[in-house]
Amino acid sequence: MENIAALDSLFQPKSIAIVGASNTEGKIGYSVVHNLIESKYAGAIYPINPKDPEIQGLKAYKSVLDVSGDVETAVLTVPAKFIKSVIDECGKKGVKSLIIITSGFSEVGERELEDEIVELAHSYGMHILGPNIVGVLSNSDSMNASFAPFLPLNGKSSLVSQSGALLIAMDASTYTRRVGFDKLVSIGNMSDVNFGDVVGWLDNDKNTNCITLYIEGFKDGRHFMEVSRKAQKPIIALKSGVSAHGAAAAASHTGSLAGAAKVYGAAFQQAGVVQAADLDNLFDRSLALSLQPPMKGDNLLIITNGGGVGVLATDAAERFGIPLQFAPKDVQVELKKHMPAFGSAKNPVDITGMAGTEWYVDSVRYAIAHPWVDGVVVLYCETAVSNPLEIAQGIKAAVDEAGVDKPIIVSYVGGEKSENAMKWLVENGVPAYGAPDTAINAMAALRDYARMRELMDVNDETHHEVDREKALKIIASAREDGRDSLTEIEAKQVFAAYGLPVTKNALAKIEEEAVKLAEEIGFPVVMKIVSPDILHKSDAGGVKVNIKNSDEARAAFKTILENAKAYKADADIHGIVIQEMAPWGTEVILGSVNDPTFGPTMMFGLGGIFVEVLKDVTFRVAPVSQGQAMRMLGEIRGAPILAGVRGEAPRDREMLADTITRYATMILDLSDEISESDANPVLVYEEGKGIKVVDARIILKKK
Ligand code: ACO
Repeated sequence: MENIAALDSLFQPKSIAIVGASNTEGKIGYSVVHNLIESKYAGAIYPINPKDPEIQGLKAYKSVLDVSGDVETAVLTVPAKFIKSVIDECGKKGVKSLIIITSGFSEVGERELEDEIVELAHSYGMHILGPNIVGVLSNSDSMNASFAPFLPLNGKSSLVSQSGALLIAMDASTYTRRVGFDKLVSIGNMSDVNFGDVVGWLDNDKNTNCITLYIEGFKDGRHFMEVSRKAQKPIIALKSGVSAHGAAAAASHTGSLAGAAKVYGAAFQQAGVVQAADLDNLFDRSLALSLQPPMKGDNLLIITNGGGVGVLATDAAERFGIPLQFAPKDVQVELKKHMPAFGSAKNPVDITGMAGTEWYVDSVRYAIAHPWVDGVVVLYCETAVSNPLEIAQGIKAAVDEAGVDKPIIVSYVGGEKSENAMKWLVENGVPAYGAPDTAINAMAALRDYARMRELMDVNDETHHEVDREKALKIIASAREDGRDSLTEIEAKQVFAAYGLPVTKNALAKIEEEAVKLAEEIGFPVVMKIVSPDILHKSDAGGVKVNIKNSDEARAAFKTILENAKAYKADADIHGIVIQEMAPWGTEVILGSVNDPTFGPTMMFGLGGIFVEVLKDVTFRVAPVSQGQAMRMLGEIRGAPILAGVRGEAPRDREMLADTITRYATMILDLSDEISESDANPVLVYEEGKGIKVVDARIILKKK
């Protein structure tokens, strides 16, 4: 959406018409009017009903056209068959946007009807939220324009949910979890307004500090990524439905490895979106991200009055990617002053079960202000000698006094007193959780967020000289032959047109040509039969390796042909391919899929025959910058192999990363043509000695 401000009318309307308003309790048209009144919505409410002149004490109108004042948005709660005529009336009235609660559109196969209502709305310059939604709720606007029964507990995050039922359930659970939201937006079928649009609007909303998303699938994957990358506020997403996606039949190694979890994970990372593992985690992380600043370095300090919770937190810190380091000497010396002799100042800092408010306060005040410390997690086990609420208030005062922009998170393990203290902490802007692991996970969200933002190469686009025309010609000629995949030689030619370092190849039809080409390529060479009737070339004696001179090339040509004929007398033989014999190196795989959500997506991993067993691969949505490509190399479990293990020289990672960026450029540039592809194996040599693509495969999109 070009003009995000156009959505002001959806989320902050000054007047609302409810078309389908009703006096019959239990109907959705009743609930929306009731909820607007109950939430003390301050704007004008115009119930529209064909029969009743009054709805729930408010003057009602037969048509929105009868309303004399302006109507900014209209909530539609009439059956699907009336929607078009209602949209038409709203358009004529000058309504700016529509919240369509009604079901019965694309979710039940009525795609055409859905397209028609969008077209109609657009013809009047209106936008549609929905259809098939619960509505919009906003604490800061005292507006419950939905059939969810009440506004959520107030909070500083806003939630956008693709599931209506889940939104209603999450609304209710804000009170039991004590994690609130400012706005709840039900996004439903996303016929018009998409995730990217709502994220863009919320990023400018002064009442939203963090954008929380429940996602089943995007319609606007790339747009969402673009908006999220530019967002100034943290975004946290729970994506459901990551298990079945990979089941789609795949013709390449890459296709079979590109499950939704991996591809979505890559897209979220590139877009700087923090992920949640499950619903609990979504609430927990959302709370931390909405209340605390990002954790800008890796140095986490834990202060605890109990060894057990300290160890649990230490384990969790490693598990969630912020492993503890010992605190520097000066920190230890100072902290030692605020604990008994048998305490420990190393990290976790154990101020012992004797700790009262003062020791907590002094430790927190000092620690959070120290330049080495990037974030503090305070753990508390309820004891007989301490007052949980007093400690909570002390921690908050200490942090305020320190006046630094660093995150603090608290975990209390205990009973009712601890619960009350945590409630107080959250209400006063300090996230607090009932388990040390949860607190560490929340801090890890703040670290993940900062890390992704640090690594975001906003201006790090990579440009390459490429020969697109040549690649398209090769593809067109394969299509003319009626093929939807390229031969190895053709695939390598396409790769070469994008600057990928492929082994030299040439096709020889007669012996003399074979010798000449082998001499041109340079010995040693490999020679292979090319025949659509002989797929398993080695079994047919159709491959000769390490051919060192012209005589051997001549002999190999004869032998391969004889073997092929003996294997299958009537085989259609296209010739013999002469290929540069690349020296052996570390085997990796590059590949691509055209993901249904994000489009051309790149894979890198350890290659060779075990690729599908080990699945040691990582993904990025194209384009991929040099910086991102270098990070891909570091992400796989086999990264140390490329870095050089046990005295081996490091591999040429610069060149490998450059090839990844070129590959990504190719799949983006040829996204209308290439469906899947693999370069496997790619041989990686020592630093400075480059890489070689030995085998190539391109599967074309069906046209
Ligand atoms: N203009 C104004 N009012 C009209 C018009 C019109 N053109 N046509 C009908 N109405 C009135 C009706 O007279 C009625 O009011 P009344 O009670 O005074 O008679 C009111 O609009 C509603 O119409 P009904 O025919 O009674 O329809 P009903 O309320 O049963 O259902 C609804 C309408 C709720 C939109 C239904 O079609 C629907 O889509 N339900 C599902 C909605 C939903 O669940 N969405 C969220 C999905 S997410 C989740 O799972 C939670």
